[in-house]
Amino acid sequence: MKKQYVSDLKAGQLVQDIFYLANREIRDRKGGGSFLVLELSDRTGSISGKVWDNAKTLSLQAIPGQFLKISGSVREYSGSIEIAVSDLTIIPYDQIAKDDFIPKSQYNREELFAELKEYLIQITNPFLSKLVNRFLEDKEFVEQFKLAPGAARVHHAYLGGLLEHTVFMLRLSKTMAKVYPKIDYPLLVTGIILHDVGKVKEYVYDKVIDHTLEGRLLGHIVQGYEMVSTQIDEIKGFPAELRRVLLHMILTHHGHLEFGSPKTPKFVEAFLLHMLDYIDARAMMFQEATEKNKGVKWTEYHQFLETNVYIKDQE
Ligand SMILES: [Fe+2]
Ligand SMILES: [Fe+2]
Repeated sequence: MKKQYVSDLKAGQLVQDIFYLANREIRDRKGGGSFLVLELSDRTGSISGKVWDNAKTLSLQAIPGQFLKISGSVREYSGSIEIAVSDLTIIPYDQIAKDDFIPKSQYNREELFAELKEYLIQITNPFLSKLVNRFLEDKEFVEQFKLAPGAARVHHAYLGGLLEHTVFMLRLSKTMAKVYPKIDYPLLVTGIILHDVGKVKEYVYDKVIDHTLEGRLLGHIVQGYEMVSTQIDEIKGFPAELRRVLLHMILTHHGHLEFGSPKTPKFVEAFLLHMLDYIDARAMMFQEATEKNKGVKWTEYHQFLETNVYIKDQE
């Protein structure tokens, strides 16, 4: 087990522990020569490491995707902390304690999954019910669905993140159904459960959380579309209109072309699915940014929230 986690590091501390190398850059030094910038991480977060001496030699060891034993010291640099790395060595994967590197949901995954199943009774349309059950009766799929992260970074980037995100959207949807009783709630519930199923194929999460090759090339919207349409094809007599609207919901759940959806929502359930997805993802981004930046008033600029997050005074 590690002794020094990213979230506990403080300026002035000496560091000697294992970190995952997520990324590496070789940059030019002002006075000539080069230095290395490493993105080092563990389950508690990530920190930048700088190698000033021996950069050329050490860059040969610093290959992204490796676990490295880092020696150095923590220092403050323009408002945030980083590690000045004096030495690094590669640690073989079989010597790594997985729990040190992959964060997991704070909730019990079995309880979350049981809660998800309580919503199945709402799916009164027999075709939609058959479709969802085809997924939930597939043991291998269910194992992956319970474990998959909701993202590689930014929000829900931990084991169980996808399940947590799906269940939180289902909880929110109850209010939608109360306020807008005319919506097709069985369709919305089905859309919520299936909207991100592609994520079980988009990410790997055995060593650290990262994209699969297919995930990088296709993305979970396309992967999910494919998975859902393949299952629909197995159901005899599945109505063509129902197929169209459900697949539309999978494709449009990111809401905008620039967020990766090829079309924008064209009916109310598709719109609500997008908004529920948006609310849960953004609410988590704000909360995660707040938790990761204790001790400061403003976080750095958040690329997805398009703002710096303000950390309110705690009473
Ligand atoms: Fe998504
Ligand atoms: Fe989502």
